[in-house]
Amino acid sequence: MFKIAVAGTGYVGLVAGVCFAEVGHQVTCVDIDEEKVDLMKSGNSPIYEEGLEELMKKNYVAGRIDYTTDYKSAYKDADAIFIGVGTPEQPDGSANLSYIATVARQIAESIEKDCLVVVKSTVPVGTNDKVEQFINDFLVNDVKVEVASNPEFLAQGSAVHDTLYAERVIIGTESKWAEELMMNIYEPFHLPVVSVNRRSAEMIKYASNDFLALKISYMNDIANLCELVGADIQDVARGMSFDERIGSKFLNAGIGYGGSCFPKDTKALENIARQNGYELKTVKAAIDVNQEQKTMLYKKASKRLITFNGLKVAVLGLTFKPGTDDLREAASLENIPLLLEQGANIYAFDPVGAENFAKVYPEGHNGKGRITYVANIEEALEGANVCFVFTEWGEVKAVTPESYKKLMRTPLVFDGRNIYEVDEMGRAGVEYHSIGRKESKVINKTNAKGTSQFDTRLQPVGQ
Ligand code: UDX
Repeated sequence: MFKIAVAGTGYVGLVAGVCFAEVGHQVTCVDIDEEKVDLMKSGNSPIYEEGLEELMKKNYVAGRIDYTTDYKSAYKDADAIFIGVGTPEQPDGSANLSYIATVARQIAESIEKDCLVVVKSTVPVGTNDKVEQFINDFLVNDVKVEVASNPEFLAQGSAVHDTLYAERVIIGTESKWAEELMMNIYEPFHLPVVSVNRRSAEMIKYASNDFLALKISYMNDIANLCELVGADIQDVARGMSFDERIGSKFLNAGIGYGGSCFPKDTKALENIARQNGYELKTVKAAIDVNQEQKTMLYKKASKRLITFNGLKVAVLGLTFKPGTDDLREAASLENIPLLLEQGANIYAFDPVGAENFAKVYPEGHNGKGRITYVANIEEALEGANVCFVFTEWGEVKAVTPESYKKLMRTPLVFDGRNIYEVDEMGRAGVEYHSIGRKESKVINKTNAKGTSQFDTRLQPVGQ
């Protein structure tokens, strides 16, 4: 078993550290944030991730993992130091490598024995050559340092599972010593390992993420065409999925991909290509389609409603996908400002993301509109003139067509995740718009009192 230090305790670093401890390595996680370190020492996770806290507690009690701000003590005698700090997108789309540079400098000043530095963060191809050079330039002690690339493929919401049971581990090394050490570190995971050179490993990460982004944008593009020609994107996807060359995953059309990886990594790779005098047309198309797709529902609803001014607008789901409290690049962040600008009176529900959203759009008046965060879906739907579904949380999927009909003043639903059956919604009396599918045919337009629910669609709440 090895002595491992992990720099950065975000999604990538913390999950990697905890999983290394889980398979028996001795791990120290380093972060500059003291409050965060104290939180983790008390067994609490700074991020919402299924199964993570349990493993943090278990391995902390077993003495296999510790957390510190003291990087010197963590790095000085480590066999390997994994870097999992962020590489945020810069205004020009390129990756900001300043956090990596800071950690590299600290490593150079701290290590007292031969050590392998492993970059897990997503970095432009060729960066690890520079990191190795940089560390060697600043080395204080006479020790050997090499850098390996070990990109991370975990998805938020299933990060622990994706790490412990990864479909593959990619290691990029430039020497036998580094390759063997990486193989040995990963040996207790019993996973398929793909060993390549460093630049290929760096490229595998971008190529994989961008391929998935392309797949989603392609389906969204086809979905938009389906609407125009009267086809159904879900049936089309099902028909396609039987072809093993296509596969059945990532064929869901919707309101575009969000999150920390796809938006950033598509722009970064496009940028890398540009810097090398090459235009990556496919990836550029994926980015463009995604940008348009994010406000597709709003555009549809705008055509249907003319104005949102004073209307009660129910919003179900704020995060970029279920199972996380992360809002990065979420479609809600594009749509809600548009609705607020139009004077909408929004009632938003999200089981874990509302608190983060309220940091950006505090409860109450925001410009011409208002936003209220509610703890249950019924409160959002009660008396609403229109409902938007942005995230396919389990509790949102569980809402029945009858509930929409009964609770909403106007049962008018715009679903960006295609989670309900079109015909069922129509039969229940709900006017239902989704992505790449026909609209519902509303059979019953009256409420329990026998008056039409659709006449009141433009009537603001409380008037
Ligand atoms: C992704 C990759 O899956 C992971 O391998 C990589 O390491 C990081 O980026 P993540 O961003 O956590 O993980 O979420 P993922 O489940 O891949 O979804 C990303 C976005 O694509 C979400 O907004 C999701 O709603 C959207 N998506 C996904 C679709 O719109 N359609 C699909 O079929 C699949």
